[in-house]
Amino acid sequence: MCGIVTAIATNNIVPVLLEGLRKLEYRGYDSAGLAVLSGELTRLRSAGRVAELAALADARQLSANIGIAHTRWATHGVPSERNAHPHISGGLAVVHNGIIENFEAIKTGLQARGYVFTSETDTEAIAHLIHSKLQGTPDLFEAVRLATNELVGAYAIGVLAEADPFRAIVARRGSPLLLGVGEDGMYAASDTAALLQVTRKVVYLEDGDLAELRRDSYRIVLADGTPVEREVHLSSLSADAVELGKFRHYMQKEIFEQPQALANTLELIAGGGGISPQHFGARAAEVFEGVRRVLVLACGTSYHAGLVARYWIEAIAKLPVTVEIASEYRYRESVPDPDTLVVVISQSGETADTLAALKHAKSLGMERTLAICNVPESAIVRETALRFITRAGPEIGVASTKAFTTQLAAFALLTLALAKLNGRLSAADEERHLVALRHLPVAVQKVLELEPEIEKWAQRFASKEHALFLGRGSHWPIAMEGALKLKEISYIHAEAYAAGELKHGPLALVDKDMPVIAVSPHDQLLEKLKSNLQEVRARGGELYVFADAGSEIPESEGVHILHMPEHYGMLSPVLHVIPLQLLSYHAALVKGTDVDKPRNLAKSVTVE
Ligand code: AGP
Repeated sequence: MCGIVTAIATNNIVPVLLEGLRKLEYRGYDSAGLAVLSGELTRLRSAGRVAELAALADARQLSANIGIAHTRWATHGVPSERNAHPHISGGLAVVHNGIIENFEAIKTGLQARGYVFTSETDTEAIAHLIHSKLQGTPDLFEAVRLATNELVGAYAIGVLAEADPFRAIVARRGSPLLLGVGEDGMYAASDTAALLQVTRKVVYLEDGDLAELRRDSYRIVLADGTPVEREVHLSSLSADAVELGKFRHYMQKEIFEQPQALANTLELIAGGGGISPQHFGARAAEVFEGVRRVLVLACGTSYHAGLVARYWIEAIAKLPVTVEIASEYRYRESVPDPDTLVVVISQSGETADTLAALKHAKSLGMERTLAICNVPESAIVRETALRFITRAGPEIGVASTKAFTTQLAAFALLTLALAKLNGRLSAADEERHLVALRHLPVAVQKVLELEPEIEKWAQRFASKEHALFLGRGSHWPIAMEGALKLKEISYIHAEAYAAGELKHGPLALVDKDMPVIAVSPHDQLLEKLKSNLQEVRARGGELYVFADAGSEIPESEGVHILHMPEHYGMLSPVLHVIPLQLLSYHAALVKGTDVDKPRNLAKSVTVE
């Protein structure tokens, strides 16, 4: 979603703002803008890409020592130049990420005082509100503090004022924002990737924090104005990790990074390491003790990881598991049980619905919380008793790939840790699972070698308007993930069904124009699945089957088979999702869609 960059330095900061925005493009946006102070306030906005904004800045030969910049993902008001940030009130400019829930009330009050609104955004209300506070105090920092105290909702903001050219003010509540402490200046941005160009020293702001940035110093206060110190971290994020390198798209790069991402995530058990609750934090044994059930809360792809985990945890650790879509759970009247382990899964750790669902679960008295997350300092990680950080590295493509498989690896460890604590895991079984987990990166590498064949399938697919994905057992969520990937990046309408459900309705959709993709591992449900596939074939549906070696499904007219290298037992879902990721990627390439930044979507969904 929206991205923010703020800079104040001894050098020209315009290139820093633009490069920061380029690094935030992956978050998803539809317009971009910046404002700088150089004697006077200059604002540039574009209802297009950052490249267009950069061209505008070049044409003006823009140069300044202080500025704010923004990529906007539309919430209030259509994507347009008029609604693009920064928004201005008098000589004051504001960029904002988040949603202000009480902006209508604020707007009405400000309009009554004579403020004129030129956009449909909630952000413009923030600009005018701060401006109105400046009538009562001459201090910009104090005016921002007073204004933010009236905001209900989520925000990360950057503020500049013509009358106060030697400092920029930033503040956050609910939306991500961090400071960058540079040699020649001070910076703020929505994530570290935007600031690696100038510094590795970062300070994560907490909810309610406000910071004043000057060229050579910064200070942070709480919402009530009390000064506060926040730790300076040295980011270990490598600049290469956010570069495309030899790849055409981030999604492709991230699909092919999966063996390494899994190896990094599973490093804890490399060599002689066994299964231990300690993988989830020092207090894990204490938190897991007496757990009677598991509740998984997540959205999108992360939700699918939770659905796979349900099969594993129930089968192996023998604990009942409920998996809920976070945006539903947070508003549902559920029956809380304090002996529940609440597991929140999120690649970004900033997903507003997942964070709110977690807070809701805690408010119901469920304090045994675990985050499985890819971003160590994210809001979700800071809210849970325990955490497991997947080591997938930055995921830039909007379509989640390596985050998913590493989430599954984390869940495999959790399943075994809970089983071990409950006396459900024999030493021999533990060893067997450890061997399989250690071999997983190699097994994934072999699946990636199927790419040329999948590419051929994708050619046939790209002309279709609909597709059905089928799976059974723990591979049903994999079918769901395959359908999500296809619709997300190729815009082909896709649905996933538990194959046994086919004849209860969706079979009516099957004809020669409806490709049916079957996830078909060599497990105890294979014979059942084969019957379901016959049902499709009998209706003229064309089948694309991802079968394991030994699945013995013969290729025939209308039945295309791709054999996976090996059957992988419990971890088979990790392998079976890979060809589905590749299929979507190549279908999108044929269709010519914007693979890494699909229309209407954002990487990290920081609003409800
Ligand atoms: C995945 O391809 C999606 N872009 C989306 O469903 C994503 O998984 C979802 O928004 C949750 O994000 P999170 O893992 O960062 O919480």
